[in-house]
Amino acid sequence: MARPTKVEITEVGPRDGLQAELNFIPTDAKIRFVNGLIAAGVPRIEFSSFVSPKAIPQLSDVVEVFEGIERTKPCTLAALVPNAHGAIRAVEAKVDEMIVFMSASESHNQKNVNRSIDESLDGFERVAQIAGDAGIPVHGAIATGFGCPFEGDVSLDTIVKIAKRYHEYGFIGVGLGDTTGMATPPIVTKFVRTLQDAVPEMDIALHFHNTRGIGLVNVVAGLDEGIDKYDASFAGIGGCPFAPKATGNICTEDLVYMLDEMGIETGIDIRKMMEIACDVEETVGRDLPGQVMKAGLRLDLHDMGEVATAKG
Ligand code: COA
Ligand code: ZN
Repeated sequence: MARPTKVEITEVGPRDGLQAELNFIPTDAKIRFVNGLIAAGVPRIEFSSFVSPKAIPQLSDVVEVFEGIERTKPCTLAALVPNAHGAIRAVEAKVDEMIVFMSASESHNQKNVNRSIDESLDGFERVAQIAGDAGIPVHGAIATGFGCPFEGDVSLDTIVKIAKRYHEYGFIGVGLGDTTGMATPPIVTKFVRTLQDAVPEMDIALHFHNTRGIGLVNVVAGLDEGIDKYDASFAGIGGCPFAPKATGNICTEDLVYMLDEMGIETGIDIRKMMEIACDVEETVGRDLPGQVMKAGLRLDLHDMGEVATAKG
């Protein structure tokens, strides 16, 4: 299949990134990040989650963050919702889109949302009704979608079963999430093809973590299958607090840099994106994995006086 010429990046840093931080990031900083992302041309942002504040205290300011956002450019503002309670809160806030989520493995679903796979699926019927009544589109995410840190390989039958239920509920998209970076290019190819056959009407999005250093390689495998929707996180921050060894998402600036170089449009201003990544790094107060934010673009050249001359 031909590679797409345009890609829609969803910035998940404010949600996937900040949910895993040990310290609570001030609400003002979260709002500044999201407003910066909108100004940089990011078309879609997962700005936070309507989950239990006991489970994820870092995102307990979801309503205040949403109220502080300035829509200076067109941008879809989406939030994670685990159950009907979350859907009611998301409708009250008037978000643009909801994203329900569950895992492809029983053990991670139990850890993350305290339910079995079937309980999660049955519960989403009510979420679909609440969102449908309010006219809010829903996407369905599948965590541990390329492998589970407790169970290993996940079953393609389970992925297909979840995606089909999402389709029955009228959800517009399905996202395969690689929660602990277990995807590899051949697995991506196989899983994407299976999903494309199972639910051809649905938009498919890919959500990679760079836990084993091949996140962007997995994106290229997705591009080769025609996938044009990817999640990424500023400065490469991120990780699920309920999965062992979970580390950052693929980094947004690094992804934009790669796609720019491949002639694939994102609509995102790479320089502005790099500035936001530096702000995030400074705010969290530790070194983050993003590479382009440190090295600059390939033609950002240096003065020869910056380094010593090697002398034997
Ligand atoms: N928003 C706010 N509060 C919620 C909520 C929601 N969406 N869903 C449940 N709650 C509250 C209930 O009101 C109840 O509060 P109370 O103790 O004051 O009465 C409490 O949480 C327990 O409710 P219950 O339905 O029994 O939930 P649970 O304890 O089985 O937890 C989840 C289930 C889904 C709410 C919780 O595990 C969760 O929020 N997980 C999110 C994990 C996550 O975001 N992971 C990262 C993304 S991959
Ligand atoms: Zn993730």
